[in-house]
This record gives sequence, structure tokens and C-alpha cells, in this order.
Amino acid sequence: MRSLSVAVAALWAGAACALPTSDSSTSSLAARKPAKAAVLPNKFKWTSTGPLIFPKDDDRELAALKDPTIIETDGTYHVFASTAKAEGYNLMYMNFTSFDEANDADFYYLDQAPLGVGYRAAPQVFYFAPQELWYLIYQNDNAAYSTNPDISNPAGWTAPKTFYTARPQIVDDNIGEGYWVDMWVICDDALCHLFSSDDNGHLYRSETALADFPEGMSEPVIDLEDPDRYKLFEAACVYAVQGGKGKQQYLLLIEAIGTDDQRYFRSWTSDRIDGGWVALADTEENPFARANNVEFEGGDAWTRSISHGEVIRTMPDQTLTIDVSEPLRFLYQGIEPAKDEGEYNALPWRLALITQQIEPKPEPGCKPRP
Ligand SMILES: *[C@@H]1O[C@H](CO)[C@@H](O)[C@H](O)[C@H]1NC(C)=O
Repeated sequence: MRSLSVAVAALWAGAACALPTSDSSTSSLAARKPAKAAVLPNKFKWTSTGPLIFPKDDDRELAALKDPTIIETDGTYHVFASTAKAEGYNLMYMNFTSFDEANDADFYYLDQAPLGVGYRAAPQVFYFAPQELWYLIYQNDNAAYSTNPDISNPAGWTAPKTFYTARPQIVDDNIGEGYWVDMWVICDDALCHLFSSDDNGHLYRSETALADFPEGMSEPVIDLEDPDRYKLFEAACVYAVQGGKGKQQYLLLIEAIGTDDQRYFRSWTSDRIDGGWVALADTEENPFARANNVEFEGGDAWTRSISHGEVIRTMPDQTLTIDVSEPLRFLYQGIEPAKDEGEYNALPWRLALITQQIEPKPEPGCKPRP
């Protein structure tokens, strides 16, 4: 908390009003925290750690950990990620109670579970309350899932089942030179929605009744598209935002490739899950998360890409609700620029954390910022 509030003071120092000093009793982040009916800002600033989680030096000989999904329940973080090397992808699981100790946690390689060996990547985890089951959503050349009654028992993940019988026609028709990747499920009171991307400027969405999930996914439709494939590339996340004064709001994040060839995240909001996305912070100048709105601890800008990751959810159910009255925390993959060349699957991506800097509220009587 202390280091975060110092960073907040530093980055928002251009504000017209004096910031409370850090030793004043009213200066803690908690005291400045916005009221519960918070809404998302349209400008984001972050503080990043250095790389936190590395592949183990073991006989797996992984090049990278990628595509993390993360929840925090009862003080424990549960992380699933892709394991990558030139030979291909699978999945791993780990847990820890503090990011300082994350890299010491044991890895459980999920190919040891019934989930099995072979191509599996880009996991998403959530608790499906109606069935009292955990779901892991991932890609295996189709949109796949495994289930488990106990997230603490990684050996319990079932063999893959797929949401579609084959790659949907609309994906075939639009994918061009892309790849069909990054499946994502979010449910509301009535429906569960399945998103996916094609690395070719299309975000797809299918739906099924909550009561039928995981069966019955419809043929996908294109939910959002861009003629510039790099602006709407992959790694889409959709969350329900808590705190909208009875008005439901959803947040969409999509990973893009910038004009500098580096990865970053754009954002949109909507009052419904099935489209109507309105730009929130979606440009290189005003991104959701990009190297230019991230301050690195110790000034060590170890990565220029803020790539595939996930907001840390503390409410793990299928509604994917996030509380925006607290600083968002986003676990992402980054890479040292000097190592960002060669065979794509063998690049040494590492996991790191960015934490949102919340702009302090002006003191009463202060002028707004110019
Ligand atoms: C943490 O992961 C290990 C497997 O590496 C598992 O046996 C253990 O139950 C997990 N602990 C919690 C609290 O989930």
C-alpha cells in the first residue's frame, strides 16, 4: 500500500491540487478510495512490477509462461497459464498467497491430469455456481473446457470437451491468415456467452442458456471487427463491472499490436454483453494498458509489451464481476526487448503485475486540472 500511494502521488503530481502528505492520517489509499458506486475511468495509469513468475529450471525445459488467468479467493491466488516452447503448448497451475513468493510456488503441469497431453493453451478459470463446478476454458484447435469440483486439486481437471463440433463456418470465412484463439466465457442471469478471436480483426461471440451451459453454444456471430487486424488482434476479456448504481456495465479488453510492433490493450464498455461496444480507452495515446501508461518499479522498463493477461478477480463466479472501486490489478505477459526475436513459440515471456493508479480526488475548493 505504501509504495503504491507513493507511486500514485508521483504520477498524478501534475494535478492542480496538493496531495495529502504520506504521513497524514487521511492520506492512505483507503481513505481516498472512491465511494462504492465507482465507475470506470476513461484514462488509465499503472505501476508494473518486474518479471515475477518464470519457468522452472526442470526437465520440461519451457521457454515461457503465457496467457495467465487468475483469481484470488480466501487469501490464495490461483493462476493457470500456458506452458510454451518450440515443440508446443500445454497448461500449468500454481497457487501462492503473496506475489513476493509467487516464483517459489510449485508448478502443477496439467498434462498429468485427465486434461491430458497435446495442444492446449490460453486458459480462463471461473466457478460455475449453478453446477458448483470450476471450469477451465482453453483452446485446443477448438474451444474446449475441463471441469473440477475443487480448484485446489489440479489432478482433478477432466478430459477436454469442446463447445463446437468443428471450427465454425463464420471463422473459416473470416480468418484469413490468422489463428482461432483465446476463448472466453462470461454469463449473465439468462445466458452464457463464448468469445473468441482470429488474429485477423474479428471478435466472435456465441451464446447458450445459462441452464444449458456448457451445451448448446450457438453458431458465432461477429461481435466487433476492424479492417486493421493488428488493432483487434486477440486475448479478449469481458467483465461485469460492479458499482454502476443499478446500471449494469461490461468492460471489454482486447490485445492489439501497436505501430511500434509492441503489444498493448484497448478497452470498450457496453451496457450489455452481446455488443454495443463503445470506446473507453482504445488508442495508442490513451490505451487501457501500454508501455506509455505504465510506470515501472525502480524505473526498470523491462518489457515494452503489455501482452495477454487478466484482471485479478476476487469474485470467481461465472458473472466475472470486478470491483472498480479498488485499483485494478492485471497479471500480464511481458518480454525483454533484446529477447523478442526468433521462433515465436520459443520466446521467453514472463508474468508480471500492473496495478492501477487511482487519481486522487481533488480537495474541496481546488481547481480542476487543466
Ligand atoms: C496449491 O497447489 C498444489 C499443487 O501444486 C495443491 O496440491 C494444493 O492443494 C494447492 N493449495 C491450495 C490452497 O489451493
